[in-house]
Amino acid sequence: MTEPIVIEGLVKTYKGGFRAVDNLSLTVPRKGFVGFLGPNGAGKTTTIKMATNMLTVTSGHIYINGVDAVEQPKKALAEIGAVVETPEFYPYLTPMETLEYLGKLRGMSSADIKRRSKDVIELVKMEEFKDKRIGQFSKGMKQRIAIAQAVLHEPSIIILDEPTSGLDPRGMFEVRQILNDLKKADFTVFMSSHMLNEVQEVCTHAYLINRGRLVKSGLVSDLINETKAKKIEVRVSNPIGPEMTATLANTLNLKGLFVNGPYQFTFDVIGGDEEQAKALLDLQAAGLNIVSFKESGVALETFYMSLIAETR
Ligand SMILES: Nc1ncnc2c1ncn2[C@@H]1O[C@H](COP(=O)(O)OP(=O)(O)OP(=O)(O)O)[C@@H](O)[C@H]1O
Ligand SMILES: [Mg+2]
Repeated sequence: MTEPIVIEGLVKTYKGGFRAVDNLSLTVPRKGFVGFLGPNGAGKTTTIKMATNMLTVTSGHIYINGVDAVEQPKKALAEIGAVVETPEFYPYLTPMETLEYLGKLRGMSSADIKRRSKDVIELVKMEEFKDKRIGQFSKGMKQRIAIAQAVLHEPSIIILDEPTSGLDPRGMFEVRQILNDLKKADFTVFMSSHMLNEVQEVCTHAYLINRGRLVKSGLVSDLINETKAKKIEVRVSNPIGPEMTATLANTLNLKGLFVNGPYQFTFDVIGGDEEQAKALLDLQAAGLNIVSFKESGVALETFYMSLIAETR
């Protein structure tokens, strides 16, 4: 068993008997960047906390690089760098001081701490702020320091619980850039997220859970190909009046039609490339001068919603 993360029949029952994680099994491939998706309350944080020894396991197994995380939590944790929940740092310490303190806690040598601190500060692009007090940092900057501390001891596996949640668009962009750098740096990453566009952008694999159970897993590219519904955005040069709108809705029977302005509308194509090609011909035959006809980037979202609805 050499895969970085292997979860087998994992169960977490909270007080009162509620099963937040219900017989979950999954494997994270080496150097994979896995998006762990699911709606609020699906059990993502509970799973991540069990994997990082922050919560006890009710039953089942978690193996980290082959090490049983329940029986040998310390050994398993040495393989992992984690960012779970909004990180708390001492506000009066600087990033460099924080890394030194955490490095010592983890038993790293002074030379290692020095070398790694420089590298990880560079990785999260915080060179300019390395000697400023964290108390004055924005949430996005703190999150970057949280990622830096996670990789300080050179773990091969990184576990992140919603790394961009609560950040403004700029903070999100910056953290996503770092995520992309982690991907290039050959780490194995397991990251929970609500955001499908984020998963689509940075992840190689996606595992979708609902009510503590695995609903779907696979390569992000395969999941997108498998998606049976696509949103199509159309721009035309002749204005769409009420008559044309009626034709689109009733005669062509377009699903999910939304006309936003005289020259633009969106609709859903159910099916594959054949259906999509036919839709384009039909629209032109109905008298529309089509300037552009493109898939808008929510394919995975449509799929996600349909899977969640099926398992409700
Ligand atoms: N300490 C606790 N005691 C009892 N129930 C809990 C506890 N922590 C979480 N739960 C419940 O377990 C379920 C899973 O919660 P969890 O936080 O793992 O979900 P999540 O997928 O991380 O959700 P979110 O996307 O909102 O972060 C929820 O129904 C939650 O209410
Ligand atoms: Mg959570």
